[in-house]
Amino acid sequence: MSNLDCLALKDEDLSKKGEQRIEWAWRKMPVLQQIRREWEEKQPLKGIRIAACLHISAKTANLARVLKAGGAQVVLCASNPLSTQDDIAAALNVVYGIPVYARRGVDKETYYRQIYAALDTEPQITIDDGADLVTTLHKERPAQALQVIGGTEETTTGVIRLRAMARDGALKYPLVAVNDALTKHFFDNRYGTGQSTIDGILRATNYLLAGSVFVVVGYGWCGRGIATRARGMGARVIVVEADPFKALEAWMDGHEVTGMKDAARRADFIVTATGNIHVLGKDSLAALKDGVILANSGHFNVEIDIPALEAQARTRRIVRENVEEFVLHDGRRIYLLGEGRLVNLACGEGHPVEVMDLSFANQALAAAWLVSQRGNLKPDVYRVPRAIDERVARLKLAAFGVQVEELTEEQERYLASWESGT
Ligand code: ADE
Repeated sequence: MSNLDCLALKDEDLSKKGEQRIEWAWRKMPVLQQIRREWEEKQPLKGIRIAACLHISAKTANLARVLKAGGAQVVLCASNPLSTQDDIAAALNVVYGIPVYARRGVDKETYYRQIYAALDTEPQITIDDGADLVTTLHKERPAQALQVIGGTEETTTGVIRLRAMARDGALKYPLVAVNDALTKHFFDNRYGTGQSTIDGILRATNYLLAGSVFVVVGYGWCGRGIATRARGMGARVIVVEADPFKALEAWMDGHEVTGMKDAARRADFIVTATGNIHVLGKDSLAALKDGVILANSGHFNVEIDIPALEAQARTRRIVRENVEEFVLHDGRRIYLLGEGRLVNLACGEGHPVEVMDLSFANQALAAAWLVSQRGNLKPDVYRVPRAIDERVARLKLAAFGVQVEELTEEQERYLASWESGT
């Protein structure tokens, strides 16, 4: 049995539902719509094989459709075992003719088999969210990696891994850090993660945030967004942060800032968003209140020390969809959402479509840019070209009907000069 036979989802009812959700999302993706109109004519990706390792959501489906409209042969695999929306995967396979190797809730071995299936298509462009596709290709198929034109990376965690590869001289082809585009992290990480994390927690628990003690671990762009939105819903937010500049920022943003153990003792909700391992570790787990809700919004399920939680537990059981109860030896009950995987996708539908329009416009344009630069770039991590980033911002503003002020020639000259003073 080939990977495709055993992994691709083909179900008519599911695919109908998925198609409706993909079309619904498309209505709010004006930047990708504009790119698609241009690409149908210009075909900048004509004949290019693309493998994309992304969260399989309605927004991702629309990115895949735009890449295909631009002439590419696209296949998808999941970038997390618990983030795939099966109706979307089915619709891509059945309705849109885009092969998807993904299914919600697969084990680790199947997750990697799906990545191998995508790599078997010998992609010339890789698109990643978390760098699992790129690292698998480099570690297990180094000769194949040399054939790749370039790749793009969606998320902070993935970019950190790519920069480590570049530092070690391990990179075999050029990669674009889409995450670092201003039209990506200013919006997706802050407003996208901010809203979708709260959304995932509320869908899973149906609990009240107002008046609760809500701990946010990590005050990067994602943590800032989560803290702002939690406060907006009336929670009393506490931030835990190891970086002194970010801690100071959180403090001046008006949040309480304290250490992990102190926060753990007081929390009703704890959300991790650091990109680091075991930030909610053994000692802090021992301090938790009865009934606390734990969730992770970082890319990997390593931020909460789940093995330590398991070791401290007398029993564990699913008490509600996406909610697992751990009863500790002293009787305290701890609730873990979505297996500690990214809560916005494990317990919800991911980011709102409007921000994914920005992120995925960057992905599409960065992929086309890599093809246009074929042979000119050495293996390294590149920024999204400023012209692409600015174009995405301007297209979005135009879609919102928002005017941007133009500088006069005098103002341009003034900004460029150094002679004039007081
Ligand atoms: N939907 C598709 N990709 C996503 C991402 N990276 N984060 C949240 N929601 C998404």
